[in-house]
Amino acid sequence: MTLDDFSQFARRRVDHYLTQHLDQYAPAAHLQEAMAYSLFNGGKRVRPMLTYAVASLFDEINELTDASAAAIESIHAYSLIHDDLPAMDDDDLRRGKPTCHVQYDEATAILAGDALQTFAFELLSHSQHTNANVQLQLIQELIHASGRHGMVTGQMIDLISVGQNIDKDALQQMHQHKTGALIRASIRMGAISVGIQNSEKMQQLDQYANAIGLAFQVQDDIIDITSDTKTLGKNQFSDEQANKPTYPKLLGLKEAQAFANSLHQQALNAISPFGKSAQPLVELANYIIGRNH
Ligand code: IPE
Ligand code: IPE
Ligand code: MG
Ligand code: MG
Ligand code: MG
Repeated sequence: MTLDDFSQFARRRVDHYLTQHLDQYAPAAHLQEAMAYSLFNGGKRVRPMLTYAVASLFDEINELTDASAAAIESIHAYSLIHDDLPAMDDDDLRRGKPTCHVQYDEATAILAGDALQTFAFELLSHSQHTNANVQLQLIQELIHASGRHGMVTGQMIDLISVGQNIDKDALQQMHQHKTGALIRASIRMGAISVGIQNSEKMQQLDQYANAIGLAFQVQDDIIDITSDTKTLGKNQFSDEQANKPTYPKLLGLKEAQAFANSLHQQALNAISPFGKSAQPLVELANYIIGRNH
């Protein structure tokens, strides 16, 4: 399967699962509409792709893999809605369209984000799943990655670091929390969903996940400068204008690119023991480093 085929496969599968479960709840149709707007307005679906790629490494994709991919994408959509709010990055463009609070209003955007967050756990805790032990592990994994031990803390560090000269360790900590944690969870949850526990395989996947999770945000910082608004679907130079600490700002563009390349190599080394079956993970790592949006 080429990366394009795999991307289509993952998108179709996760979108189907999300659509099936996001039933119309009449008392707040407006809220539902804002949630759907942010879930289905053209995200790349990188996190679900990672989840499915890991599960397929073990020759198995099951309902808990679908629930994991959908739950992670729902958390991701919520994080972007809140990230774009005037109180945070104050951005008006996302995926080439108005951000949620511009399309609707601020209160609706806050509530749509809140609802997408709990929707993620609704998907994972659903009683139709038959393995309660695995379900609990998946829920704990997503809580750890998205809450105060992960994304939310990363976002807090990001906001209090505006205009500050933070060093490389602090920047790495910020990026690992705000973005790396959820990417890592996408990979770990793919494995957990098919019954992989604390094995050597999980350790190898973890090394891949740590490297590619950080690389994802380093590349996001880079393309804020090197890509353009039309390609990005979000405003170019948004980080510079908001005075955010980023890798290109700290190291210079060339050094930031070299750092991304070294993380890419670390990720590939970590999964080399899996051989040919890890090809989708190799291609996803290449894509994450090579992308311009
Ligand atoms: C953007 O994530 C936010 C970051 C964590 C850097 P993506 O680049 O995955 O966004 P979409 O979902 O494809 O729009
Ligand atoms: C966002 O980081 C990380 C999140 C947790 C949403 P950025 O603020 O750099 O993401 P973009 O560039 O707005 O997509
Ligand atoms: Mg931000
Ligand atoms: Mg932002
Ligand atoms: Mg960014």
